[in-house]
Amino acid sequence: MAEHRSSAVFFCFEANLSPFSVAFAKKILSLPDNKNTNKMKGTILVTGGTGFIGSHTVVELQSVGYKVVIVDNLSNSKKEVVDGIEKISGIRPDFEEVDCTDFAKLEAVFAKYGNIDGIIHFAASKAVGESVQKPLLYYRNNIVSLINLLELMPKYGTKGIIFSSSCTVYGQPDPENLPVTEAAPIKKAESPYGNTKQVNEEIIQDYVHSGANVRAILLRYFNPIGSHPTSIIGEMPNGVPQNLIPYLTQTAIGIREQLSVFGDDYDTPDGSCIRDYIYVVDLAKAHVCAMARILENKQNEPVEIFNVGTGKGVSVLELINTFEKVTGVKLNYKIVGRRAGDIEKVWADPKKANEVLGWKAETSLEDTLASAWKWQLKLREEGIQ
Ligand code: UFG
Repeated sequence: MAEHRSSAVFFCFEANLSPFSVAFAKKILSLPDNKNTNKMKGTILVTGGTGFIGSHTVVELQSVGYKVVIVDNLSNSKKEVVDGIEKISGIRPDFEEVDCTDFAKLEAVFAKYGNIDGIIHFAASKAVGESVQKPLLYYRNNIVSLINLLELMPKYGTKGIIFSSSCTVYGQPDPENLPVTEAAPIKKAESPYGNTKQVNEEIIQDYVHSGANVRAILLRYFNPIGSHPTSIIGEMPNGVPQNLIPYLTQTAIGIREQLSVFGDDYDTPDGSCIRDYIYVVDLAKAHVCAMARILENKQNEPVEIFNVGTGKGVSVLELINTFEKVTGVKLNYKIVGRRAGDIEKVWADPKKANEVLGWKAETSLEDTLASAWKWQLKLREEGIQ
């Protein structure tokens, strides 16, 4: 069967069949040797490429031979991430400090590089709580950025765009829709942030269906966690983390006194909320598969949607237990009241991504949490956090 697949799609199957653990990756990633082994496949513009998911995706794109141009306004990331990417892959991506809402500057990037084949659009504001306080900031940043990119694509011959969407579009799926498939109903967004994901999906659908000569893949991420096995890049939240994993690792290392577990009275086996935690490197690889699908004209529809998750629901308390087991660190946590707006339980049915995209999450929760802890230790070593 494999012989009939194109090389890029074959990569997706092959990469995911190989055994992957943090220890294994540590070994194979210690020597950056991509420079001489890849022939360039095309140029990909990665907006938000110095961010958490963006930076991991740049590394994976480079590892299969794409040239990458990063556009980032550094509002939630640091330029030094570009050095980290180079250290891992042996290839320095081009970097442009540009805000995607600035049409003229964004167009200058397209004009400068001339041949951008595809776009992966990560750049967006993503704090749920902040979006409730500053809705216009979120609508302007997240929606104008996308419109600018879409407008520039046909003008510069860019074939397709991958959009970072979220399982937040499903809200709390009805019990019969768990695990959640791409066909599950879209629920009213709980926050302006969530609404920007829904509206952006619609904007892309409307634009492509209007006859614009562009294609798109919408990737609905579940909960991305962990860090690159080299610990050279990872998650760098600004200020007090709002998400579970950075808060947990900061507590484990002593930056935060105690982790609050938001609720143990949900309708779940142990009463805490359930999510589908996906390793960020696995998620990054899904983008590589999706980009190959676009550029090699493999899509069944001009806009395709894929859930990117593991298919496994894990509760907050289960996750804490696994973290303690893997790291040997005892975590100081206490059960507190529910957090407003939290979804009780959601996890993916990733069958479509597995079968159609040829991608599968392959890293265990244990290895993923070990990578997050290793990253936190590295930050301490460097005196960063
Ligand atoms: N949690 C705690 N304590 C904390 C932080 C989180 O118990 O200090 C719990 C939450 O209640 C939830 C789980 O850990 O049950 C995960 O919470 P996160 O904040 O890490 O993630 P969410 O699932 O709430 O939201 C994330 C992103 C959103 C995105 C959503 C769906 O933060 O931006 O996934 O994609 F919309």
